[in-house]
Amino acid sequence: MTQQPTSRHVFRSSALEEADGPGRNPTDNRTMGEIIAARFSRRGFLKGAMAATAITATVSPLAMFAAGEARAQGAVEGSVFDFPEVMAGVDRDHHVAEGYDADILLRWGDKVFADAPEFDPLNQSEAAQERQFGYNNDFVGFIPLDGADDHGLLVVNHEYTDPHLMFPGIVTIADGKITITDADENRVNIEMAAHGGTVIEIRKVDGKWQPVLDGALNRRITARTPMQISGPAAGHPRLQTNADPTGREVLGTINNCAGGVTPWGTYIMAEENIHGYFEGTLPADHREAANYERLGLPADAYDWGKFHDRFDVSKEPNEPNRFGWIVEVDVNDPNSTPKKRTALGRFKHEGAESAVAPDGRVVFYLGDDERFDYVYKFVTAGKYNPDDRAANMDLLDEGTLYVARFDEDGTVAWLPLTHGEGLLTAENGFESQADVVIETRRAADLLGATPMDRPEDIEPNAQTGRAYVMLTNNTRREEADAANPRVNNAFGHIIEIIEDNADLAATSGTWEVLLQCGDPSVAEVGATFSTATTENGWFGMPDNCAIDSDGRLWVSTDGNNPSATGRTDGLWAVDIDGPARGTSRLFYRVPVGAEMCGPCPTPDLTTFFLAIQHPGDGGEDWEGHGRPSYYEDLSTRWPDFDDALPVRPAVVAITKQGGGKIG
Ligand code: FEO
Ligand code: CA
Ligand code: CA
Repeated sequence: MTQQPTSRHVFRSSALEEADGPGRNPTDNRTMGEIIAARFSRRGFLKGAMAATAITATVSPLAMFAAGEARAQGAVEGSVFDFPEVMAGVDRDHHVAEGYDADILLRWGDKVFADAPEFDPLNQSEAAQERQFGYNNDFVGFIPLDGADDHGLLVVNHEYTDPHLMFPGIVTIADGKITITDADENRVNIEMAAHGGTVIEIRKVDGKWQPVLDGALNRRITARTPMQISGPAAGHPRLQTNADPTGREVLGTINNCAGGVTPWGTYIMAEENIHGYFEGTLPADHREAANYERLGLPADAYDWGKFHDRFDVSKEPNEPNRFGWIVEVDVNDPNSTPKKRTALGRFKHEGAESAVAPDGRVVFYLGDDERFDYVYKFVTAGKYNPDDRAANMDLLDEGTLYVARFDEDGTVAWLPLTHGEGLLTAENGFESQADVVIETRRAADLLGATPMDRPEDIEPNAQTGRAYVMLTNNTRREEADAANPRVNNAFGHIIEIIEDNADLAATSGTWEVLLQCGDPSVAEVGATFSTATTENGWFGMPDNCAIDSDGRLWVSTDGNNPSATGRTDGLWAVDIDGPARGTSRLFYRVPVGAEMCGPCPTPDLTTFFLAIQHPGDGGEDWEGHGRPSYYEDLSTRWPDFDDALPVRPAVVAITKQGGGKIG
């Protein structure tokens, strides 16, 4: 990342990930460097010597385009995609492929309820924010109502807040660096209300999507919404606090990055970088010291603990154990209590996309987004009942959590994180399954899981029994291995898992590196896009992804910027089968400073919902701005381009002009 925080108060989720140091994994599970070369020289991929070449963020001359030089890419032989490619680059606006419309559907501050106040950025309040669309939209899901493709619930995560872009008058500049004034209680409470999620009814009217503000199921979830803790850690003494001696009730959810929609139509919110919200020092010799160290807790990136004791570990040492979970929301009842499903483990959860296995069990793929952390999956004990929604509502409380070991022979073993099995016993500090899920990372360390290059979104395809793992980057990797084949992996890669017998619930399978990302015209980068991929079509830093109902892969990115790749983040279509496998092309790109989240295709593929997160957060390295970006001096005012309004994260609906399938 080039947009690093210059003060602890300028906070980006991805910047915090970068600022964490060399990952938190203390094991030497990663010392499998030698074994690989084997796999990759055999396959004619990256040789050891080349892997050892330092790769800096590199922009090829070809990547630097002048405006107007867009080249429509014709159909690639064997490709399942056919659209005119967008030209990669950087500017203040977003761009979608010719022949498509990109319409703004919901922006930060927009009404979620008919009686919500109008957005007034100069007089924002907690009460207003609780009725308005939150900040930094990340995961987007669509849950059809009445089985319709033109009417449904949109569910959207609000991952974190950027106060320097949200509030006037709080930034000072010295030596070209931003400093933000300490938060007061009002600002903290507004930011807490801007976190969480939104559930909102939407409908397509005359071909255009619009929110239904009097929708009976509309809901805001925030960092203060009462939630229930369920599964093996519920009620455990390690989750008990002064405010909740039961260890079963917690206020709110934070840093909800990606997520999922379950086959039974509930909304999943993944709690990712929870460490930034806590401050203070644990009491001496506290039993959670090693647990918190493994998660980088507390990182003190916000000021919440100054006004809310539970975010100060010196006052509430167990509170961090109540975060870092997968949260499930029953969207059919706006008054339902969201549940933190502890059976799926506690770590920096990126997302939780799921599919039904052949025998009816449901499989959730889970990435732990930190350098040298792991890929997981959870297989429910019970089976999905498509005819009885209520029967599925607690499927996530019982099942088996597995962690992946990627072996150099091209196989993957799914290792069960089950108390009493192997090393997960009292001798190693695991008295029960509660201890295993509370300290999931340490349990996975003991099993010899493979440390990965920051696992982000993972998308299964039930039809093929395959899953696609986005590994965003890891510039601290000094030793390559089979599944992480590049040292100093600045641009990330994508792994395809092929589960045995096309059964997503299988405990073993094989895998391939689908793509090594980065500029393929720079040999040292070692990118493996197909030769049919144009200079617009390559990307770095894969983050979110989707397998659409045609089985096509779409990849969105976080970290492309002028100095890293000469382009903004965007949405790329990637062929995964046949002669075009490894061909990528650019469908949509975001404004300067933004990260691309989503995509969420409707089942009929006529709409893609995309989330444009933290637009305007950056611009120092872009010739169009060339200095820090903050409320009074923004690198873009997307999407309104109104001098009276700040830049706003927003959800965009993409449709094809004249209708029809996208892509
Ligand atoms: Fe919030 Fe791992 O991206
Ligand atoms: Ca992400
Ligand atoms: Ca990210």
